Amino acid sequence: MKTVKSTFDQWAVSDRASNMTAGHAHIYEAYLLDLENHSQDIPSAFSILDVACGYGEILRLASKAGLTSLFGLDLSPEMAKKAQDIVPAASFEVGDFTKAESFALFPKVAGCVCVEAIYYAKNPCLGLQNFKSALDINGRLDLFLDFYQENRPSHVWAKALGLKLQLHSIEEWKQMCLDAGFSAVSHRFAHVTSELVSEHDFLSSPYTESYADYLESRANGTLWLTAKA
Ligand SMILES: C[S@@+](CC[C@H](N)C(=O)[O-])C[C@H]1O[C@@H](n2cnc3c(N)ncnc32)[C@H](O)[C@@H]1O
Repeated sequence: MKTVKSTFDQWAVSDRASNMTAGHAHIYEAYLLDLENHSQDIPSAFSILDVACGYGEILRLASKAGLTSLFGLDLSPEMAKKAQDIVPAASFEVGDFTKAESFALFPKVAGCVCVEAIYYAKNPCLGLQNFKSALDINGRLDLFLDFYQENRPSHVWAKALGLKLQLHSIEEWKQMCLDAGFSAVSHRFAHVTSELVSEHDFLSSPYTESYADYLESRANGTLWLTAKA
């Protein structure tokens, strides 16, 4: 049976995960720039836990920028293994973010970030509660997701992946963060900055069926939720 774990184990050992990581470049860039812009509030010892880290690209970039307290968690052992090879300076663990015990080996962190993963969980609220517990008091949560109610072209993803995904509106995600105990929940959007693909060069896929969908999704942007623990 196809599961989230088997899907991402398979992506990790194929080129698929490299393409996925490249497709999230605008997210990593926006997140790290935002940390830099708030650097007066952020000590150089700012610690980051990348939940559902995939190849750990955020941690690789953060390490390059001089941060040293870096941790990653992923459900897929193959992803975590790959991430550890790519970012030896960070510590990676294998575990399910909806289970509290998956966080047992990490110290409390200043920043918890989760990119394109929360909607894979059957019960995302459990994940959010664990993110809250993983953070220092006043620590910062950043959630990024392209699969959300207002981003209509993304709705085909569950069928394309053959997995059950949790589709919620922006307000529902914000309420879930509040229910998990976060405060100061706000949202904005991160937009792809690479050059627009022309209609001539656009390739249809089960994830983006038409050029109109590509344009609409790109204009909508990646939902970016920030909250305080
Ligand atoms: C679309 S990928 C995103 C990976 C990475 N965050 C990135 O920016 O490329 C989703 C990742 O979430 C992980 N994942 C999904 N559900 C998870 C869970 N319940 N606990 C931990 N990791 C999970 C998958 O194994 C996969 O690596």
